[in-house]
Amino acid sequence: MIEYEHKGVSHYELLETFHRDLTPRSYFEIGTLQGGTLCLSKCPTVCVDPSFQIKVDPTGAREATMLFQKTSDRFFQDHNVTQLFGGPVELAFLDGLHEAETLLRDFANIERHCKPNSIVCLHDCVPMNVGQTVRAINGGLWTGDVWKVLPILKKYRPDIDIYVFDAYPTGLVCCTNLDADNTVLRENCSSIWREWGKIELEEYGFEKFIQECSILPTSLISSPEELRRYFYL
Ligand SMILES: C[S@@+](CC[C@H](N)C(=O)[O-])C[C@H]1O[C@@H](n2cnc3c(N)ncnc32)[C@H](O)[C@@H]1O
Repeated sequence: MIEYEHKGVSHYELLETFHRDLTPRSYFEIGTLQGGTLCLSKCPTVCVDPSFQIKVDPTGAREATMLFQKTSDRFFQDHNVTQLFGGPVELAFLDGLHEAETLLRDFANIERHCKPNSIVCLHDCVPMNVGQTVRAINGGLWTGDVWKVLPILKKYRPDIDIYVFDAYPTGLVCCTNLDADNTVLRENCSSIWREWGKIELEEYGFEKFIQECSILPTSLISSPEELRRYFYL
């Protein structure tokens, strides 16, 4: 089996860099589990997970921490993120259900609450091999089929700036130049799914996919000055 080894720092370290060097004023997270990424946030935070198993200090020194124990779809039906924060979300991390159609919906739903230079990070979109991409929960470094979200975003939303970093173990995709009013993903979700639903990574071509990702080393953004060449808040 062909393997791609991500040689950069972990997604935790990369997110910590975003929090430290860009000091976002609001952080939104789907998929919290034990709180490994929640605890990196120092600003008002919203977390969504149908089954929290938090093992860290849940509030830290933040002035507001809001935990919603429900699926992301249910959350977006019931709540308005801009109202919860009193403004747009500046940094988001999407790490919930490992199904491409859910991640795409999560992306479209949170983009509505972003400003153009907000940053939306997607986890697990660059698997190490095709074996990790099966849809059924597989434990370990299982990514599901969320890899599809990258070619879909590139095709349907070429206006978004997408940077793919070699964050260990399964990459970190960072999107900016967002457009809260763009409805392309929402309006085309059925046709997108007809086109992409049954495509497996093996059939798409793992090497082709990795080439198309144009993966950047995490070392490119290890200082605040370097980070601000790509992102600013
Ligand atoms: C990989 S874990 C998150 C890990 C955490 N972000 C970290 O890096 O430490 C994925 C989480 O997504 C949650 N999840 C599963 N289905 C979900 C859904 N439909 N909406 C939101 N979260 C979901 C699971 O309960 C699980 O806690």
